[in-house]
Amino acid sequence: MTNVAEELRSYWNDRGPVWVEYRERLDGMLAPLGEAAVARLHPDPGEHVLDIGCGTGTTSLELARLVGASGHVIGVDVSAPMLDEARRRAADAGLDNTSFVVADAGAHQFEPRHYDGAFSRMGIMFFAEPVAGFANLRRALRPGGRLSFVCWRSPSENSWVTEPGQAVAEVLGPPAPMDPDAPGPFSLASADRISSILTEAGLVDIDITPHDLPLSIGIGATDELVRYYLDLLPATAIPENAEVHVIDRVKAALGAMVERRRTPDGITMGGAAWLVSARA
Ligand SMILES: C[S@@+](CC[C@H](N)C(=O)[O-])C[C@H]1O[C@@H](n2cnc3c(N)ncnc32)[C@H](O)[C@@H]1O
Repeated sequence: MTNVAEELRSYWNDRGPVWVEYRERLDGMLAPLGEAAVARLHPDPGEHVLDIGCGTGTTSLELARLVGASGHVIGVDVSAPMLDEARRRAADAGLDNTSFVVADAGAHQFEPRHYDGAFSRMGIMFFAEPVAGFANLRRALRPGGRLSFVCWRSPSENSWVTEPGQAVAEVLGPPAPMDPDAPGPFSLASADRISSILTEAGLVDIDITPHDLPLSIGIGATDELVRYYLDLLPATAIPENAEVHVIDRVKAALGAMVERRRTPDGITMGGAAWLVSARA
């Protein structure tokens, strides 16, 4: 495993318990994006499907229901705590056509030319080596097998990330510039980059369609929503040695943003994604 892959594995294992804690709120936000990508995959009964970066398993369970008892879904994720939750949920739902593998989907040796489909809801932008990672998925798909995923467009088109980021920057100043191509939530923000990675990985029939929609952050007391942002958004990372009065000012800025955005139905922010499909 490369250093970058090891750092990412460690990051997602550390973050796992927080994603488990906030699963319902995250699912509320991401559900319409996953549904659009599932519709494009269009899994049929009896099919074998991979769910890449499946996290706590929501889409794996949905896919498992669609492929039915004669099909099978394997959720793949680097985060052991998230997969523990996914396994628990599959068992509770009585879905024994689902299994989960702790692995780097960009490097794991899947059964070659076996799967009818590979799917991902926001779990495919983190490969240390994207061309090698997508080529690995292509090798796992049977010839003609389908890839369907949804990933974020640029941060500037996604107010769910820029607005809290701006609130924090009011106190801490602008964050250090980041390499836009480095593995991370926005590494596939450029359609040209997606196209060239997938082409180099040997995939064909590539379709990249913009998908804009309001995203529900949900309801809750201001303190609860501020804690959610602090726990989840890298843009809001506060230096570990920050003094209490600085942390309090960041919380106040985030709280003001939450209040500005509050409606009787909860908080909704702008979201912009790519729906991507291709074939092996
Ligand atoms: C933004 S979360 C999305 C989780 C889930 N798909 C959902 O929609 O709730 C990204 C997920 O990708 C996983 N991930 C990151 N890099 C990965 C890799 N190389 N192989 C497999 N999973 C990976 C993370 O552990 C995390 O669960």
